[in-house]
Amino acid sequence: VTAEKAGFDHFMLKEIYEQPKAYRDTMGARLDPSGTKVVLDEVKMSKEQIGAIRNVHIVACGTAYHAGLVGKSVIEKLARIPVEVDVASEYRYRSPIITPNTLVIVVSQSGETADTLAALREAKRNGARVVAITNVVGSSVAREADDVIVTWAGPEIAVASTKAYTSQLIAFYLFGLYLAQALETQDAAAVAEIVAHLKELPEKVERILEQAEAIKEWAEQVSTHDNLFFIGRGLDFAVAQEGSLKLKEISYIHSEAYAAGELKHGTLALIEEGIPVIALAIQDDLFEKTVSNIKEVKARGAHVFGLHTEGETELAKSVDQVFEIPHTLPLLSPALSVVPLQLLSYYASLARGNDVDKPRNLAKSVTVE
Ligand code: G6P
Repeated sequence: VTAEKAGFDHFMLKEIYEQPKAYRDTMGARLDPSGTKVVLDEVKMSKEQIGAIRNVHIVACGTAYHAGLVGKSVIEKLARIPVEVDVASEYRYRSPIITPNTLVIVVSQSGETADTLAALREAKRNGARVVAITNVVGSSVAREADDVIVTWAGPEIAVASTKAYTSQLIAFYLFGLYLAQALETQDAAAVAEIVAHLKELPEKVERILEQAEAIKEWAEQVSTHDNLFFIGRGLDFAVAQEGSLKLKEISYIHSEAYAAGELKHGTLALIEEGIPVIALAIQDDLFEKTVSNIKEVKARGAHVFGLHTEGETELAKSVDQVFEIPHTLPLLSPALSVVPLQLLSYYASLARGNDVDKPRNLAKSVTVE
């Protein structure tokens, strides 16, 4: 068993550390040797078919759903197609408007989640083309989808998903660029710039992992609390939701992820003296706004742990502790900012003496509805 964990105490930690490799493997041959564009030969859509897409539905469960939240921003920004994201257990019961011009993207690490598979079948019944993003070649989802983008994260054993989630983000970046190239919604220079930044992500994740000890200290402080908040705006909010889920799943600490600007519409009532707030202030264009929300919780006694981009000096003035994320394009930042949150959950779970890899009541893959 120790050998399987390659010297790590838990599969989850091993899988967190495997992320630089998972990013590299998922990008792999899909980046053109020229380094300026994406080649996604496994997606067999013609330019005409891509041009006919009127809307995109992303459907998934759990952590894969959170990857979908990022996927929505990626596709809307790069390809300018409207995207809706649904949890699979809700999707087919809300009479979604699926037409032959709808592209449905199902995201599933295992490729066996019953709700996701049922959503896929519903999409196909309505004539939509289905693209699957999955980590398991030959899984049910992979077999039934029209096109399959495999995330090359390798087997994920820990129930709490880490490298599968981040590989799903990489898959969305690649697919978003693929659509943009076909639709010419981004010029060649813009695509090349994103590709260049994608290639730098693995090394930047390594730099975050080198600072794991600082996050362990945060986790030990957080682990003594029963309630906390994650706040952020835009993509930071999407990552906050994943960070909150991860923490709940394995540490059993209750947390809520809130869009930072929405706090004052209710949740601010729950901010009391000493409550930890994990604030993501990475999106440049929203930075000032997020800082003003941080001040709102600080004024009510919250202890704020802030995540910001390196070189940024303002945040430290408004929070109690800061952690720096290497600089990248805002669109790509979730692939970096989630990593300290994964470590935070891991170390908080450990500090509480929980079974990190096998949290109570949860299964790695849920094959019943
Ligand atoms: C289960 C797991 C979650 C996972 C979800 C979706 O509930 O506990 O960690 O995110 O299923 O799994 P999938 O294999 O479809 O990505």
